[in-house]
Amino acid sequence: MESSAISVAVGASAAKRGGYVGAFYGSTVGKKVVMAVTGVILVLFVIGHMIGNLQIYLGAESLNHYAELLRELGHGGLIWVVRGGLLAAVVLHIWSATALTLGSWAARPIGYRRRQQWQESTYASRTMRWGGPILFLFIVYHLLHLTTGTVHGDFVVGDVYHNVIAGFSIWWVSAIYIVAQFALGLHLYHGVWSMLQTLGLSHASYNRLRMGFAIFVTFIVVAGNISIPLAVLTGAVS
Ligand code: HEM
Repeated sequence: MESSAISVAVGASAAKRGGYVGAFYGSTVGKKVVMAVTGVILVLFVIGHMIGNLQIYLGAESLNHYAELLRELGHGGLIWVVRGGLLAAVVLHIWSATALTLGSWAARPIGYRRRQQWQESTYASRTMRWGGPILFLFIVYHLLHLTTGTVHGDFVVGDVYHNVIAGFSIWWVSAIYIVAQFALGLHLYHGVWSMLQTLGLSHASYNRLRMGFAIFVTFIVVAGNISIPLAVLTGAVS
């Protein structure tokens, strides 16, 4: 109640300065909606990317053909549209997260209520604030590793299958990917849960449904992704 009153007040003053879009984004609710909408885009990407990656089990030709198809969609233009959309979603997601975190720090009461708040928050929600930056670092490493090949060592342009197998044959590279998938899992679980709440499924009677869906999405993505470095390390794919 209190926070929505503050949001409305902040929103009203922002409306005078920057119109309704500014007022909406200026409010806490507006930032949460931006986080949720960009979250949906990123979750859909992560699911699609994982399904695409699983083509490794169909062999080199399938995976490389799929990667080439993506690169050539819309005469090579569509991939840049998708990349631009993803980049915008990531920037807005981080921007809103930072603004919400700084806002909640500024409003944080001291002493008893602070401890109470800490106890009330779940492990997954507390990890969002350090899990986000870890995921960001992983994505930067991942792009330098499997997209540009800058930190790969044995990168062959266009041969995605070779790049994945050669990359994951180094145990510590696989370890980085596996650890990052656990950070992704915690982030996804809490992210999907709060995203559904922000987008309207906030009634307590939906809690079980929301939790079930968040667990399902998280499990599928994390298990699918982790299976790939494990398959390479065990020699199941080579
Ligand atoms: C074991 C798990 C993963 C594998 C095997 C994998 C594999 C790959 C490969 C091979 C590429 C390059 C594709 C190409 O050049 O055609 C790529 C690109 C990319 N991956 Fe992953 N990936 C994994 C996990 C992730 C995760 C968890 C994220 C995000 C959270 C992610 C985000 C990206 C992004 C943003 C790109 C660049 C797409 C582009 O614009 O070309 N990946 N990945």
